[in-house]
Amino acid sequence: MKMAVLARWLLLLAAAGLVSGLPPVRWSQLSPDEPEVQGLVALAEREYNSASGQEDVYRALRVSDLRRQLVSGMKYDFTIFLGRTLCKKGDENDLDKCGLHISASLMEIQCKFSMLVVPWVNETKVLETKCSQEGLQKRSDESSSEASMTGEDAMLETLSLFKDFVNTYNKKYKDDEEALMRLQIFSQNLLKAKEIQEKDQGTAEYGVTKFSDLTEEEFRTLYLNPLLSSQPTRPMKMAVMPTDPSPAQWDWREHGAVTEVKNQGMCGSCWAFSVTGNIEGQWFLKKGSLVSLSEQELVDCDGVDKACGGGLPSNAYEAIEKLGGLESEQDYSYLGHKERCSFSTTKVSAYINSSVEIPKDETQIAAWLAEKGPISIALNAFAMQFYRKGISHPFRIFCNPWMIDHAVLLVGYGDRNGKPFWAIKNSWGKDWGEEGYYYLYRGTGACGMNTMCSSAVID
Ligand SMILES: *[C@@H]1O[C@H](CO)[C@@H](O)[C@H](O)[C@H]1NC(C)=O
Ligand SMILES: *[C@@H]1O[C@H](CO)[C@@H](O)[C@H](O)[C@H]1NC(C)=O
Repeated sequence: MKMAVLARWLLLLAAAGLVSGLPPVRWSQLSPDEPEVQGLVALAEREYNSASGQEDVYRALRVSDLRRQLVSGMKYDFTIFLGRTLCKKGDENDLDKCGLHISASLMEIQCKFSMLVVPWVNETKVLETKCSQEGLQKRSDESSSEASMTGEDAMLETLSLFKDFVNTYNKKYKDDEEALMRLQIFSQNLLKAKEIQEKDQGTAEYGVTKFSDLTEEEFRTLYLNPLLSSQPTRPMKMAVMPTDPSPAQWDWREHGAVTEVKNQGMCGSCWAFSVTGNIEGQWFLKKGSLVSLSEQELVDCDGVDKACGGGLPSNAYEAIEKLGGLESEQDYSYLGHKERCSFSTTKVSAYINSSVEIPKDETQIAAWLAEKGPISIALNAFAMQFYRKGISHPFRIFCNPWMIDHAVLLVGYGDRNGKPFWAIKNSWGKDWGEEGYYYLYRGTGACGMNTMCSSAVID
């Protein structure tokens, strides 16, 4: 396309008798944004990478001093600054998708290229290449040296945040290579968190969390639950709705029905934590004692669900009924990976008799919660990887209510400065969110929080 445009332009010039009439050497400056530059840059990248003795693939960071001259074709001279990427030669690389290595902007390679485009034979020739390792050397023109200072400042700031992060969460990486890779992911995640922040309609703060060194893919695999939206729930009977008006706010933590925040570790067992949390509340309300119950029993003994690979609360209730109850956390402690089932009926700490589904209407959910106890729910965890505090309220298009991938426990609701929220107990430890809790906007079915609400029933 760009070749075609150029060719037509040259033909027009030739037809008008202008080509040969032009003075022999006339350079014109060209902006790097011109569409014809793309192809030249791509060719320069290929040339550099095929000639360099390095394993790492480099890609263009920017182009400067670009000029062109009409000769026996179109001659282009330009300077290109290349940066090291995380891609290796020999892999199927789509250069645009190769993340930049952390050293990329500190140690650029600078190359001068001279190329000739001959549109009528559909050919681009590289006439001359000269590359040097530029490192931190000063650049000739001021604007680009200024731009690079900003790049270095940003890099230093990221480095300092990363150092704090490593200390705060006691991160250990096996070698420098991994540390550099994690730093790279960390810096990309800072940008992602910023984007989520800009698009939030609530009061939430997003930024560095203990998951800031994980790619989205890793986070999904290690902590989320794909079965929630891919498997049909086991049908349950509908809960009977309370008829009394519900209070304006309620929090089961203030009424002794909620145990300490737990930590599922690198295991997609959120469904087990959501269910034990609900049963802990039900048991407390029926029997008067708060006992922390075993998730590991569900990970090991619930044959329908997939242990660390995910599960559904509706299946877990049935499994608990069949097994005969749940042991306590103390007797059957959490390991975070599947082991052989070692449940014993003699150690049952709580039983359930059945389970119910709670309607999707948030007013009814609140009414049921205030009267009957914490509710097992599931939601789309879109905004949770980088959530720090406040009321999260992502736009519906970013937090699709049908793409639920995380099960949690609804323990209360209220308003903060006029913003209605749900208080949600998560199972990622106390060092995530607000002391382990997530606050989500209430009233619009945010992130599908109202689509899979249920509870065990103890007769
Ligand atoms: C010119 O070359 C490009 C890529 O090498 C090719 O896709 C295109 O079809 C060619 N065009 C002509 C007119 O030969
Ligand atoms: C509820 O389940 C327990 C334990 O399985 C059982 O002992 C009890 O009789 C059941 N209650 C009712 C009303 O069925």
